[in-house]
Amino acid sequence: MTTAAFQAPKGTRDFYPPEMAVRRHIEDAWRRISIRHGFLEVDGPTFESLDLYKVKSGDEIVSQLFSFTDRGERDLALRPEFTPTLARMIAQRAAGLPRPVKWFSIPRCYRAEQPQKGRLREFIQWNVDVVGEAGPRADGEVLNLCADALFELGLTTTDFRIGWNHRELITQALLATFVSAGRLPDAFYILDRLQKLDDRGRRELYAARNCAPTEMTHYEMIHSAIAEGGRPDDSPSLQRLMAAWPQEVTAAITAFQSRLDSMGLAELCRFDISIVRGLAYYTGFVFEAADARGDNRALAGGGRYDRLIETFGGPALPAVGFGMGDVVLEILLRDHGRLKDNLLPRADIFVISTLDTPDKADRLISDLRRSQWNQDHTLIVHPGYHVQTSYRATKNIGKLLQEAAASGAAAAIILAPDEMSRGNVKVKNLFDRTETEVSITDVRQTVRSIIQMSARA
Ligand code: HAM
Repeated sequence: MTTAAFQAPKGTRDFYPPEMAVRRHIEDAWRRISIRHGFLEVDGPTFESLDLYKVKSGDEIVSQLFSFTDRGERDLALRPEFTPTLARMIAQRAAGLPRPVKWFSIPRCYRAEQPQKGRLREFIQWNVDVVGEAGPRADGEVLNLCADALFELGLTTTDFRIGWNHRELITQALLATFVSAGRLPDAFYILDRLQKLDDRGRRELYAARNCAPTEMTHYEMIHSAIAEGGRPDDSPSLQRLMAAWPQEVTAAITAFQSRLDSMGLAELCRFDISIVRGLAYYTGFVFEAADARGDNRALAGGGRYDRLIETFGGPALPAVGFGMGDVVLEILLRDHGRLKDNLLPRADIFVISTLDTPDKADRLISDLRRSQWNQDHTLIVHPGYHVQTSYRATKNIGKLLQEAAASGAAAAIILAPDEMSRGNVKVKNLFDRTETEVSITDVRQTVRSIIQMSARA
C-alpha cells in the first residue's frame, strides 16, 4: 500500500509542531481571557446521542452530522457544536450549580461540510456561556469577552467587526411594518442572505420568494442601513426604518448600543438586521464577529437561547453565549500580520559540556529543569527552566553555541575542565554575547537575571 492511501481524511488537519504551536497560542489566549472574565472550564463527550442535536440545533447542522450506530443499536453523532451538551449538563445538575453559571470550553467539533476557506470538517471551537442571567448585561458581557480575546491575540478595532441584532425585537419591527406573520420565515431567510448578494442577486432572491414591491423597498432600505454602518446617528436609512418601528423596540435597540459604547466597543459593534443566525435555538439577542474587510466567513457567533435548557428537561433558565472557531481566526490573524512566524517554544538555557563524560552536565540540566520549593512546599524558590542541550559528541564550542542560538535560549552554561577544576562554569548571555565565570552553586541566580532581562527586551 502506498502512503497516498493514508492521507488524513478530507477536512481534517495534522498538527506538526509549528501548527500545534499556533493552536496553543490561540487556545492559551482563549483560556486566559475566559478565566480573567470569571469563567470556569468544562468539557463533555466527543459524541452524544443523535437526538440531542435533532431536538433544537436546526436542519442545517443536522444535515452536517457525522452520525453512526453503536453495537447496542444506539444512534450517536460526533458533536457539531457544544451548546446542546452544555444545556444537557446544566439540565442534569441545575439545582446544585451556583448561579449564574459562567462556563467556557474548547472542544473539537465535527461538521460534514464541504471543506473550503475557513470551513473544515474537524475544527476547534471556543465556547463561552452565561446561564441563569436574563438581562442585557450578560449579553454585553459575552460580546465584550469575544472582542477581548481578539484584542489579546493582537487584533485591533480596524481588523474585525461585530454585528448584533435581536430576533424578538426585529420580529416585532417587521410585523409592525411590512411583514405578515405567515411571511416571517421568508423574511428571516431573505435577511440572512441580504448582505451576501449583489443588486442582481437580491432581485432574484426577492422574485424567488414572491416579494411584493413594498417588501422589496423595505429590504433595500435594510440593505442600505447595514451598508451605512448600522448606527442610527449616521444612517439615514436606519433612521427611516426605525421611525416606523414600535417605540419600545427602538428604545431597546438604542439602549443596548449605548451599553456597548460605554464598554468601549463603539467602533467595533454595529446593529445589523441581517444577522439572524442559522441555529434554531436562539430566542433574542444574536451577534457575529467577522473580518472588517468582509472577505472571510464568520469568526464567531452566538446569542441568547432562553428555552434550550428547559427543552432538555431542566428548569427554565435564561442563557447566552457564543462560539469562536480556530480556523477563521487563524486566517484572520495571518491576513492582518498578527501571528509571529515562529511560535515554537524557546529555550531559556542551553547547556554545553566539553567534559569527557556527560554526568555533570546531565545533573545540572536535571536540577535546572526542576522547580525548587521551600521546605513546606508552599513557595517556589527557583522556577524550573526550559533547558536544552546537544546530543552531539563534539567539543567544538563554536558549533555548540550555534545550536544554543538556534534553540532561542537566553543563556548558555558551559562546563569545561579548566573552570570545573575551580568549581566554576561559564555563563554566556546569548543576547549581548557577554561571558562571566561563576561558581556552579550560583549559576541559577546568574541565569535567572539573564532570562528576566531577555524577557523584558
Ligand atoms: P456557529 O455559528 O455554528 O455557532 O459556530 C460558531 C463559530 O464556529 C463560527 O463562527 C466559526 O468560526 C466556527 N465554525 C463553525 N463551523 C465551522 C467549520 N465547519 N469549520 C471551521 N469553523 C467552524 C455555534 O456553534 C453555537 N453553538 C455557538 C454558541 C455557543 N451559541 C451559544 N453558545
